[in-house]
Amino acid sequence: MAFPGRYPTVRPRRNRSNAAVRALVAENALTPADLIWPLFVSDGINKREPVPSMPGVDRMSVDLIVDAVKRAEDAGIPAIALFPYTDPILRDDAGSEAFNPDNLVCRATRAVREACPNIMIVCDVALDPYTSHGHDGLIVGGEIVNDETVESLIKQALVQAEAGCDTLAPSDMMDGRIGAIRAALDVVGRCDVRILAYAAKYASCFYGPFRDAVGSSTALIGDKRTYQMNPANSDEALREVALDIAEGADMLMVKPGMPYLDILQRVKSEFHLPTFAYQVSGEYSMLRTAFDLGYMDRDRGILETLMCFKRAGADAVLTYFALDAALMMNSS
Ligand code: PBG
Repeated sequence: MAFPGRYPTVRPRRNRSNAAVRALVAENALTPADLIWPLFVSDGINKREPVPSMPGVDRMSVDLIVDAVKRAEDAGIPAIALFPYTDPILRDDAGSEAFNPDNLVCRATRAVREACPNIMIVCDVALDPYTSHGHDGLIVGGEIVNDETVESLIKQALVQAEAGCDTLAPSDMMDGRIGAIRAALDVVGRCDVRILAYAAKYASCFYGPFRDAVGSSTALIGDKRTYQMNPANSDEALREVALDIAEGADMLMVKPGMPYLDILQRVKSEFHLPTFAYQVSGEYSMLRTAFDLGYMDRDRGILETLMCFKRAGADAVLTYFALDAALMMNSS
C-alpha cells in the first residue's frame, strides 16, 4: 500500500496542471501598484539623450519627464524617483547645486507635482550628482566627512520638500542622516514629508551604469567603501535598518536587488516595515543586454525578476523596467 503523505499518493503536480489552478494557488502577485519608476532628468526642452550603458533608458528634459510620468500614472504606477544629470559646470567640491531651489530636480519636481498632484515623488538625498569628485560626501583631508555632509543633506532635503517632493530618499549611507533630516523637516512644519531610507545599501559594481546616467562616473575618484556596506555582510544590514527606523524612517530600501534577496528577506521578516528593493542600473543593463541579444525572453525575464522581489518580501520595487512591466501586466 502506498504510504499516505508521499508519492504516489501525493502528487504536487496536480496543483500545477492548468492555468486556473496555478492562478488559484499563486502565493504572490505583481501589479503596477508594486512599481516605482526611476527617471533621469537633464536640462533643455523636448530633449532626450540615450544613456549608452543603459540601452532603452534616456535622460529627459523636464517637459518630457512630465509626459513620461503621466504615462506611468495612466498605467497604474503610483510612484516615480527623480535623478538629475547636472551640468559639469554646476558641480563643485561642496555639491552646492544640491541646495539650489531651482536646480533640475526641484524644477522637475514642481512640474510633475503640478501635472500629477497625486503621484508619489521620490527624490534622492545625496550629493554625488552635484560634486566635482563624484562622492556622496564632503571631502576634508582626503576623508569623506560624515557630520558636515549631513548638514548639507539637510539643506538639500528642505529644498526638495519645498519643491513638492513627498518622499525623501537619503541614499548616501552617512551615519545619523535620517534623524537629522526628520528633525529638520519637523522644525519647519513638514511632518507630512516621509523618509524612504536607503537603509542597507552596499558598495556595489552594479551602480556603474547609473553613474554614467548622472554623469558622476568620470568624476569619481576611488570608491564608496568607507560609507556603503561591504557585500560580505548581512547582520550589519539589520543594524543599519534598526538605526534608521529608530531615527524615523517610514520606509526602507535594500539595494542592489537581485544579488541581495537574502538581505531583503531578513529585513522584511525582522522589522515588518514597508520595504522596497531597488533593481539597480547594472541589473537592468545585464538583463536588457541578454534580452537584446536574444539569450532570454524579455517579457518573462522582466516579470520573473520582479516577482522574485515580491516573494522575498518586497512591498514594491524600483525598476527601470517599471513602465514596460506595467503595460505588460495591463495587457495580459
Ligand atoms: C547615489 C545613488 C546611486 C544609486 C542611487 N542613488 C549610486 C551610487 O551610490 O553610487 C544607484 C542606482 C542604480 O544603480 O540604479 N547616491
